[in-house]
Amino acid sequence: MSQSHSHIPVTIAGTGSYVPEKVLTNADLEKLVDTSDEWITTRTGIRERRIAADDEFTSHMAVKASLKALEQAGMEASELDLIIVATITPDTLTPATACYVQKELGAMTAVAFDISAACSGFLYGMKIAKRLISDGAFKNALIIGAEKLSSFINWEDRNTCILFGDGAGAAVLRQSREGEGHIIATDIGTDGNQTHLLNIPGGGSACPITTENADQRLASLAMLGKEVFKHAVTRMRDSAKTVMARAGLKPEDIKLVVPHQANLRIIDAIADRLDVPSDRVFTNLQKYGNTSAAAVAIALDEAHREGRFTRGDKIVLVVFGAGFTWASATIEW
Ligand code: ACO
Repeated sequence: MSQSHSHIPVTIAGTGSYVPEKVLTNADLEKLVDTSDEWITTRTGIRERRIAADDEFTSHMAVKASLKALEQAGMEASELDLIIVATITPDTLTPATACYVQKELGAMTAVAFDISAACSGFLYGMKIAKRLISDGAFKNALIIGAEKLSSFINWEDRNTCILFGDGAGAAVLRQSREGEGHIIATDIGTDGNQTHLLNIPGGGSACPITTENADQRLASLAMLGKEVFKHAVTRMRDSAKTVMARAGLKPEDIKLVVPHQANLRIIDAIADRLDVPSDRVFTNLQKYGNTSAAAVAIALDEAHREGRFTRGDKIVLVVFGAGFTWASATIEW
């Protein structure tokens, strides 16, 4: 009798993360633009961020995070069927960063591709990988959020350059075994009406970088921060509530909320609206700033390794980014 694959539960068997060595503090930024440690700390919560070396690319950071996730999962790269890299700062526009990662890991039987969903990409990847495993198409998947945002920042624009950093986080997903937890529910969404509020305007086919426009730094992140802020709070609150309801979970059932790491004030506002006390919300943006697709993946790994949740605990991941895009997941660890 053929087994129905539609309900194979999927677990996270390992997590890993990597950030570059170089630290850029708020005091360092005071020397670059007209800003202050006080302004940055009170408006965002960020104290420092990591900056990749010139010869350190998104794929390099992705590989380092992945090796740690594979080690924790007790899995060889050769066992992977699928690699998804979520990034808006790929090594090259084509081929996908996932192809470089596949080669470097030696995961030659894995299908590898990138997804571009800004800060929400890691959870978009989780939803895709979960479905492909739960329907039986694949057994083992590696999902990665990796960014070298420092290459796409206008270091003369104080509105943006204080916010972002580089890094990578990864997770190994596979079929859940007896006694293991699983990804309970996921939610993803998009609002393409808001592309103008947060984008990298240049460097794509709409606006190639030419000798005429080179000095305008169009291949840099541009953002209307206040508008983004409002959407971020509403969308993340609604998305987190959706996955909590789908999982039948109340705020008191949640051991830890792991949100996108953009701004401490956004995180506080969401915690408040979800009725989760701040000691059950994980933050590490003080150290890394906003690393876009990598942020929630690094946060998940750090929270895991710090023992902030353990087998059987229920956690909520929630993210928001350019697009706009948003996503959430409830997980029983
Ligand atoms: N240092 C000092 N002053 C500054 C700085 C700075 N670095 N940046 C802006 N200011 C000034 C502004 O010029 C403005 O001055 P004005 O009143 O004289 O015009 C004043 O500070 C207030 O600026 P606002 O933009 O109103 O500040 P706000 O409190 O909104 O904070 C911030 C800005 C931190 C960007 C906030 O709006 C935010 O976090 N937005 C959301 C970011 C986000 O969530 N992004 C999502 C994902 S990112 C992705 O997908 C890649």
